[in-house]
Amino acid sequence: MATLNIVKIGDSILRKKCRPVPVITPRIITLLDDMRETLHDADGCGLAAPQVGILRRICIVETEPGEVWEMINPEIISSEGEQNEVEGCLSVPGRYGVTRRPQTVTVRATDRNGNEYTVTGSGLKARAFCHEIDHLDGKIFIDNAVRMLTEKEIEEMYG
Ligand code: NI
Repeated sequence: MATLNIVKIGDSILRKKCRPVPVITPRIITLLDDMRETLHDADGCGLAAPQVGILRRICIVETEPGEVWEMINPEIISSEGEQNEVEGCLSVPGRYGVTRRPQTVTVRATDRNGNEYTVTGSGLKARAFCHEIDHLDGKIFIDNAVRMLTEKEIEEMYG
């Protein structure tokens, strides 16, 4: 496994639409392994393939330690409710904003063994699913944040 470089905002790769994964090759498995290691190393709760320079529809989410959702070709198939919470992104270091997201979402995706599954998440998990899937369409949370936090607010929350 290897730790990959995380692309930062300003790089046009983060703005591109990712292509579906037609077949799960050993290269895709290696990518998933490397993305897991990169996510752990960066202490984040989600990572999408374009953030490591790969324009494929792949992301991982880990909002609860040890519970890693590997998502190939993920799609949100239903959503419910609304939440307005603070969000950040490994590609947007030091900046946080309040985003409007569904309270609960159900995602259909394929795992590394080629099996399709659905997962339903609420709260932070729902936010992470939406945030990572947005990355696959070139969207970043700051695009439609309700508002960005001020330096003072960030210091109070994370300082
Ligand atoms: Ni992100």
